[in-house]
Amino acid sequence: MTDQLATLLSEQRRFPPPVGFAARALATEKLYRKAQADRLGFWEDEAKTLDWMAPWSRVLEWTSPHAKWFVGGKLNVSVNCLDRHLSGPRRNKAALIWEGEPGDRRTLTYWDLAREVNRAANALRTLGVKRGDRVAIYLPMIPEAAIAMLACARIGAVHSVVFGGFSAESLRDRINDAQAVALITADGGYRRGQVVPLKRFADEALVECPSVRHVMVVRRRPGADGDEAFAEMKEGRDHWWHRLLAAAGPEALPEAMDSEDLLFILYTSGTTGKPKGIVHTTGGYLTQAAATTKYVFDLRDEDVFWCTADIGWVTGHSYVVYGPLANGATVLMYEGAPDWPERDRFWTLVERYGVTVFYTAPTAIRAFMKWGTEHPARHNLSTLRLLGSVGEPINPEAWIWYHEQIGKGRCPIVDTWWQTETGGIMITPLPGVVTTKPGSATIPFPGVSAELVDAKGQRIEKGGGFLTLTEPWPGMLRTIYGDDERYRQTYWSRFPGRYFAGDGAKVDEDGYWWILGRVDDVLNVAGHRIGTMEVESALVDHPSVAEAAVVGKTHELKGQALAAFVTLKEGAKVTAALKDDLKEHVTKKIGAIARPDDIYFAADLPKTRSGKIMRRLLKDIAEGRALGDTTTLADPNVVAKLKDQYESEEG
Ligand code: WTA
Repeated sequence: MTDQLATLLSEQRRFPPPVGFAARALATEKLYRKAQADRLGFWEDEAKTLDWMAPWSRVLEWTSPHAKWFVGGKLNVSVNCLDRHLSGPRRNKAALIWEGEPGDRRTLTYWDLAREVNRAANALRTLGVKRGDRVAIYLPMIPEAAIAMLACARIGAVHSVVFGGFSAESLRDRINDAQAVALITADGGYRRGQVVPLKRFADEALVECPSVRHVMVVRRRPGADGDEAFAEMKEGRDHWWHRLLAAAGPEALPEAMDSEDLLFILYTSGTTGKPKGIVHTTGGYLTQAAATTKYVFDLRDEDVFWCTADIGWVTGHSYVVYGPLANGATVLMYEGAPDWPERDRFWTLVERYGVTVFYTAPTAIRAFMKWGTEHPARHNLSTLRLLGSVGEPINPEAWIWYHEQIGKGRCPIVDTWWQTETGGIMITPLPGVVTTKPGSATIPFPGVSAELVDAKGQRIEKGGGFLTLTEPWPGMLRTIYGDDERYRQTYWSRFPGRYFAGDGAKVDEDGYWWILGRVDDVLNVAGHRIGTMEVESALVDHPSVAEAAVVGKTHELKGQALAAFVTLKEGAKVTAALKDDLKEHVTKKIGAIARPDDIYFAADLPKTRSGKIMRRLLKDIAEGRALGDTTTLADPNVVAKLKDQYESEEG
């Protein structure tokens, strides 16, 4: 056993729920018992907390691997997130409190937000966007991102949000896969004091996107109307967002959507070079997003909830927009980087807005640790009462630091495991109920059935193995857009009858889950999923490259970093400039998040007799310098061992 795993398994610290917190927590032990006794009844009661336009006839129709939840029910997500809060005291409550990176601020009450969403919905309709059409959204973290999503939901259009850090080519591929008819973007967004010229990237992408008829452009840069440097408007195709909204009426009738109508597509990396369009539908998704937000974050009217995720990721969908707004909560949204202009920006925000519930990623927490305690120490963080973590395994050291330096020993921590595919949180402590252990996501959310299996698919009670889900859950993906066969293959074929999540995990004596990391060819870099194949394809696309293999390498802050092994074509020369050129090439093809940290030139790549690249060996080489690094939880050797088992069974 390696030192790291030994450390993890000997983690003896226990954090029972603070008595005061437990006394008034929304979640109680009873929820587990209720869901245990009647899983569908549990979810049905949660669905009943939403506003439906027509009731469902059956809670679940399950023809593995296809689920339908709340069959025949009709509802509109924007009505649930907005209209139903307008008749009571929430009408004038802050729905979105926003701060831009340069320091500009806006607050939208539920009334304001509803007005904007209605106008945006009418604007989309004016452009001819109809129910069922796909709309791509490529925006910075500004209120219009949430407004655009909700406006699509209002008219029954399916949104596909593309993270603003993705390249023009990535945007193009996603638009084309979904055949989007419209794109909503901005002239730019701020990141570390620079303007990211989104519209320019969009223009580049749109050259090869024949399906897009209209582009709405949000003017993010004040006074920049018509500023050709950042947004060259194409006559007939491009429209300024603010002009269309000013001309649009303030009321837009919501479509009555079927519970199983598509709400959104969100692309995520898989084990091939082509990202998968994960399909989420309406009733089940919203039920799970709303229920998990309420119980996991103990959310109430007086809270200020800050989930730091970008709207381009599923966490931004479920816990910046849909979950909290369905609960009538106040959401804080921040546009920029955590270290701009100083390394205390987040704590400045917590103090300024009195944030009470804070949800972020381990990669950020590790960066805060490295930057030093003086940054949070300068601020009054006494409003915080609950902390959350998501996206990657959180190492016990980071967990303890978070608990002590940010939560001041007072705030429970919810380490939440879930995926783009699951739609909402799946494994997590319920605060006030579950005793936590640093580094463990603890136990499944009520109504979620997780089981550990060995490489043969046999259920095991405890020890190391693979995380599978055995029963359908409301927020589950319904398919991969346009490729149902890939859906079956990817998620349901490795362990028949089970949804396999791609993660290795360990279950301890108490039935607690410790997520170890991905065992498939997906890497988790700073909480972002990146497929090794995608990066390899981008490298091979370079004229000098013959072959490429990409592996993950332990990284102190990012959890994993990308290391690429490359062989060159005849005549190409190994130079430092070529290294930079290759890194740039990947950035251009995919986006900066996929930029490899290291590039190694090799004469040959090690292969098995059948021609399979021996990644394990490459990983050993890449890890070589990182030995002795105990800062990350996901132990490379344990995961590698599981990965070997996983792959060998596949033949
Ligand atoms: C990883 C993000 C350990 C995991 C919501 C999963 C985690 C992938 C945790 C999904 C956690 C997410 N502990 N690992 N609490 N949360 N992961 O689709 O490997 O961007 O499969 O969804 O992140 O990433 P995705």
